[in-house]
Amino acid sequence: MENVTEYPYNTLMKNRKIRVFEYPDQLVDYAIGKWSDMSEDAIEKRGLFTVALSGGSTPVYFYKKLSGINLNWNKTHIFIVDERFVPFDHRDSNVRMMHETLLGNVDIPEKNIHSVTTEKGRADEAAHSYESDIVSFFKLSSGALPEFDLILLGLGYDGHTASLFPGSSALTVDDRLAVSVTPPDGSMHDRVSITFPVINNARNILFFITGSKKAEVVKDVLENEDSTLPASSVKPRQGKLIYLLDRQAGALLSGSTR
Ligand code: 6PG
Repeated sequence: MENVTEYPYNTLMKNRKIRVFEYPDQLVDYAIGKWSDMSEDAIEKRGLFTVALSGGSTPVYFYKKLSGINLNWNKTHIFIVDERFVPFDHRDSNVRMMHETLLGNVDIPEKNIHSVTTEKGRADEAAHSYESDIVSFFKLSSGALPEFDLILLGLGYDGHTASLFPGSSALTVDDRLAVSVTPPDGSMHDRVSITFPVINNARNILFFITGSKKAEVVKDVLENEDSTLPASSVKPRQGKLIYLLDRQAGALLSGSTR
């Protein structure tokens, strides 16, 4: 595939790849191909394809384009990486964005969409309820972790991923599958987020990162491996990790020829 730079494996993490695409369309098409391959493989081996999706703005185009692809949605189960604790119809709701761009445009049964209940109660109650949904769906025994086939992550300017923000006590939680989080910036709504043990137990993790404003934090996470940045803690135990960047987001990486 032309116009793609693949960085060598990082010696510390053999299961990590970094792919930089000249154009966003190429990044999205590559991701669609990965989704399709992973979906086929998971359904063939286990009868289901389990995915956790991130919100934010970066994946919107990918979700829209994915909705036009013929996939086995009847055997696909969608979970949410993190949710803002706002009503479904709130402009900041991740699941609302996912419905508008993807879930409302494909034949996925409602029961296959596992979202966070934000219509009543408090964020910590919603986190416990979401955790129970994950436990019962994956039929987990006490202390066991779900193994998602795919988790899609974004990267914030401050190095957060999911709703795991720098300095948050949620970063070190190792006995919960989902937690409530109060972001450092109060305007960002209380959140419910899956935790690092869940993320790092996934079979596949795809990071979507685009735009020149992310170039600094990309370099800090991918090359400087700045451990103060939450995204640096994404180190899948056995799964594969692929960073999908556009040229602008990858511009400061030392192998970049741009
Ligand atoms: C959210 C996301 C969050 C996002 C990053 C990047 O709920 O906001 O899950 O972790 O992935 O903040 O957001 P952008 O894609 O909008 O830059």
